[in-house]
Amino acid sequence: MNRKWILVFLTVTLVLGLIGLSIAGDKVGNSRKGKLLFRKNCRACHNGSKAQEMGPYQKKIKEWDGIFAKDKYQEYSCKAEWEKLSEQDLLDILSYLRAGAADSKVPRGCG
Ligand code: HEC
Repeated sequence: MNRKWILVFLTVTLVLGLIGLSIAGDKVGNSRKGKLLFRKNCRACHNGSKAQEMGPYQKKIKEWDGIFAKDKYQEYSCKAEWEKLSEQDLLDILSYLRAGAADSKVPRGCG
């Protein structure tokens, strides 16, 4: 009898764990991809040529979160550029910017 309940418990734990992982996985951006995407799709202008220079360390994590808040980009002059990117691309870019933010644990210059 006891063994049966242990088995049930383990199965439930495993299933819940897998569900949790898949939900979390959806929301996690890949900062390595984000770096490349940022270089290609943002830095092209935001390097001080066509638009003001922009780099991860220039803002804090919360500020980046605000900039990437849902549909906020509609207010930006470059919203057409944002619309070209998928939701996952933007998530990747955000995670790159967060990783190198002024108040992140990563030292400056390592982004
Ligand atoms: C075609 C050039 C171009 C590209 C590509 C581009 N931007 Fe912009 N962006 C601009 C211009 C021009 C402005 C107007 C203000 C300025 O000069 O920064 C702007 C404004 C912004 C602003 C608002 C700044 C403010 O203080 O109001 C943010 C945030 C921003 N861009 C982020 C991004 C991100 C992130 C990407 C990549 C997904 C990107 N931009 C791609 C040209 C571009």
